[in-house]
Amino acid sequence: MGKRQTLAILRFKQQDAATPKAIFCRGAVRDDFANTPMNVTLKGQTRHYRTVDFDEAKNQVLLIEQRLLPHEFKIIGTQDMVETAAAIKDMVVRGAGAIGATAAFGLAQGARAYRGHDLAGFKRWVGQVYQTLKNARPTAVDPVNAMDWMLRRMEQGTAVKEIQAIALAAAREFADEDAEHCAAIGRQGAKLIKNGMRVLTHCNAGWLAFVDVGSATAPIYAAWEQGKKFHVFCDETRPRCQGATLTAWELAQQGVPHQVIADNAAGFLMRRGEIDLVIVGSDRVLGRTGEVANKIGTYTKAVLAHENKIPFYAAIPLSTIDWNLRRGEDIPIEERGEEEVLGAWGVTKRGKREYVRVANPTSGARNPGFDVTPAKYITGIITPAGIFKPGALWTRREKLGFTRN
Ligand code: MRU
Repeated sequence: MGKRQTLAILRFKQQDAATPKAIFCRGAVRDDFANTPMNVTLKGQTRHYRTVDFDEAKNQVLLIEQRLLPHEFKIIGTQDMVETAAAIKDMVVRGAGAIGATAAFGLAQGARAYRGHDLAGFKRWVGQVYQTLKNARPTAVDPVNAMDWMLRRMEQGTAVKEIQAIALAAAREFADEDAEHCAAIGRQGAKLIKNGMRVLTHCNAGWLAFVDVGSATAPIYAAWEQGKKFHVFCDETRPRCQGATLTAWELAQQGVPHQVIADNAAGFLMRRGEIDLVIVGSDRVLGRTGEVANKIGTYTKAVLAHENKIPFYAAIPLSTIDWNLRRGEDIPIEERGEEEVLGAWGVTKRGKREYVRVANPTSGARNPGFDVTPAKYITGIITPAGIFKPGALWTRREKLGFTRN
């Protein structure tokens, strides 16, 4: 690990209302988004960072190296679309919205790397770039939704140079909208959080999982900004510990009171009446059924919340809705390497990042990355356009950006 750096994120600064660019829900989202960007202070210097950005001159996708957090803050630039796909696969960047924006910029990056004027050859190349980025991680639908939307835009161009320019403009538009949708989720969801509540969240659905602001954390940050006093429990989220590392880091920077709990502790706390509300993110919500795919362990928490009569919400931008699949069983669930379960990454007292084996040396492991929660366990879906019962997504599909492919 490199030099340890002190980080602090300043409190939100309300900015002028941003112009809405509602890609997935044109006309559906209010046009008075609060813009609540995340600012990071490094060695006394405060700057607004986006989790995903693009360097036009170098044709690089810029990413916060999330595997190093919370111990080191570093921005990397991917040289080409193969490196961009690898960054998604290896979880340099992770979280449905963030990998959606990364895939969008990766598609633009790949398109812009094409040399020559041959339109047919260019389109074949763009098809390869699309597949490479799509295959990087299978469960989140945001990358596919983002790239499909970009391809429709790119069809409007008639020459290679023109299409390359459209691709980059579209990727930027997707990224901007991701941030705007998250801010709107905060405005919609903040009313669910009351003074004195204890809120549980799972994995990281924060600003690191999006371009900015976050989904499950958006209501938390908005309620905090409104001056409400509450407490957040972060599930540690084994095996990769996104709750203990990323969500806890974000909340600490924002000054939101919180504690990390072992994944298995949530049921105990719920039964004791020590959790009042659960808010999670999602990698794919089925628009037809309201089923929610999210980080492994979400289903367990939803069943426990239901059993203990605790409201359970999923917070999503509209790019997380899959209008095509008809059954949760059909959602592709990523199986990851067994080393994630058999050991853990951490930082030694000397600041060196190391992997340690925890499990019995001769044992193997099974590592499904996500699970699917049936609609009956979900109280509501918090979207930029309002809070809906899971079963109401389909009936309200026009408002929620449904488009026929
Ligand atoms: O494997 P990860 O870290 O990409 O998983 C992330 C999650 O499961 C988040 O909860 C999810 O992406 C919703 S927030 C974008």
